[in-house]
Amino acid sequence: MSETPEIRKGLYGVVVDETAVSKVVPETNSLTYRGYPVQELARYCSFEEVAYLLWNGRLPKQESLIRFSAREKALRHLDRHLIDLVMSMPLSCHPMDVLRTAVSFIGAQDPDAYTRNSEHVRHSALELMAKLPTIVALDIRRRQGKGYIEPSRKKGFAENFLWMVFGDEEGSPANSRSDIEAFDKSLILYAEHSFNASTFTGRVVTSTMSDTYSAVVAAIGALKGPLHGGANEAVMHNILDIDDPSKAEAWAKEKLANKDLVMGFGHRVYKKGDSRVPTMEAAFKELAEEHGQTKWVEIYDILAKTMEENTSIHIKPNLDFPAGPAYYILGFPIEFFTPIFVMARITGWTAHIVEQNENNSLIRPLSAYVGEEQRSVPPRSF
Ligand code: COA
Repeated sequence: MSETPEIRKGLYGVVVDETAVSKVVPETNSLTYRGYPVQELARYCSFEEVAYLLWNGRLPKQESLIRFSAREKALRHLDRHLIDLVMSMPLSCHPMDVLRTAVSFIGAQDPDAYTRNSEHVRHSALELMAKLPTIVALDIRRRQGKGYIEPSRKKGFAENFLWMVFGDEEGSPANSRSDIEAFDKSLILYAEHSFNASTFTGRVVTSTMSDTYSAVVAAIGALKGPLHGGANEAVMHNILDIDDPSKAEAWAKEKLANKDLVMGFGHRVYKKGDSRVPTMEAAFKELAEEHGQTKWVEIYDILAKTMEENTSIHIKPNLDFPAGPAYYILGFPIEFFTPIFVMARITGWTAHIVEQNENNSLIRPLSAYVGEEQRSVPPRSF
C-alpha cells in the first residue's frame, strides 16, 4: 500500500531550491536583495545600481556604474523592424501582449539566443532592461495618437522613461525631480521578490535548458495575471470605481461579504504586512500631496483600515496597493501599470535565470492521479 502523498496546493510553503538573489523573512516583514534591505536600496540607490547589484552580487563602485550605465544607454534604441512590430500590434490587445511579443522578437533577432553562459545571459538581460522602456513608451504614445520619442543617451533610466512617455508636455513628470525619484523607488521595490510566480515560471523554463528570451516571455505571461502583477491595474480600477472617500468603507465591506477578492491586499508569503509597502506608501502620499490629488489617499487609508479590521486574518496591503495610485498620479494609462512592473522585474527574473543556469536541475514535480482507474478500450464498431 503506497502512502497518500502530501499535496501542497499552489506549492504553499514548499521550499523548492536555494537562491542567493534575495531573501524574504515574513516574520519580520523583511526583504533583502543580495543582503541589502530593500528600504535602504530605495533610499540611497538608483534603479541602475540595483540592477547591477542583482546581476553581480555587489553594489557598483562609481567607475563600474558609469560604464554599466553607458552600456545600458547605448542599448535603448529600437531598430526599424521592432518599431514596425510594435506599431502593427492590434490597439485592442493588452500592452502586456505587446511586450511579450516584442521580447520574443528580440530573442529571434539574437543569433546567440541559445548561448546560456552567464556573461551572455547578463548581456541579454541588459539589452532587455534597456529596450523594454522604449517599447512600453512607444506603445503608450501610439495608442494616444502621439509620435515616437527617441530614447535619450544622457538621462538616467527612470527619467528617460518618463521623458519618452510624456516628453516636454505641460506637467511632464520628466521635468520633476520628485516625480522621477518616486518612480525610481517604485522600480527598485518591484525589481525582485524571490520565488514569486513569474520568477519561478522563468526558472522552470530555464531548467529545461531553454533560452533566456523564452524564459522571460513565459514570465511575462505569468506576471500578467491579476493574482500577480495584474493586481496594480485592478487596484486603480477599484479606486476609480469608489471615487468618493465616503463610499470606500461600504464598498470594501460589500466585497468581503460577497467573498470577493480585493486586489492589492493579501500575500502568499507575507501574512503580517508587505515589507515594501511603507516605502511605496510614503512615495505615493508625497506624490498625491504634490499633485493635489489627496482624494486617492483618503480612499487608500479607508480601504486599508476596513480590510484590516474586518478580516479574521487582518489582511494588509501588498506593494500593488500604493503603486497603482502612484502610477495613476504620474499620468500612466492604467493598462500600462503591469508592463512598467515588467521593466523593473526583468532584473530579478534574469538574475534568477543566471542562477538557475549555473546550478541546474530540471524542475519536474509529481502529481497525485485522481482520474479513472485503468480500463480497456471497448471494441469499436464504427
Ligand atoms: N481580498 C479578500 N480576501 C482575501 C484576499 C483579498 N485580497 N486575500 C486573501 N483573502 C482571503 C482568502 O480568500 C482566504 O479566505 P478563506 O480562508 O475564507 O478561504 C484567506 O484570506 C486567507 O488567504 P491566504 O491563504 O492567506 O491567501 P493566498 O496565500 O492563497 O493568496 C493572494 C495570496 C495574493 C493570491 C491573495 O491574497 C490575493 O488573491 N490577493 C489579491 C490579488 C493581489 O493583490 N495580488 C498581488 C499579490 S503581490
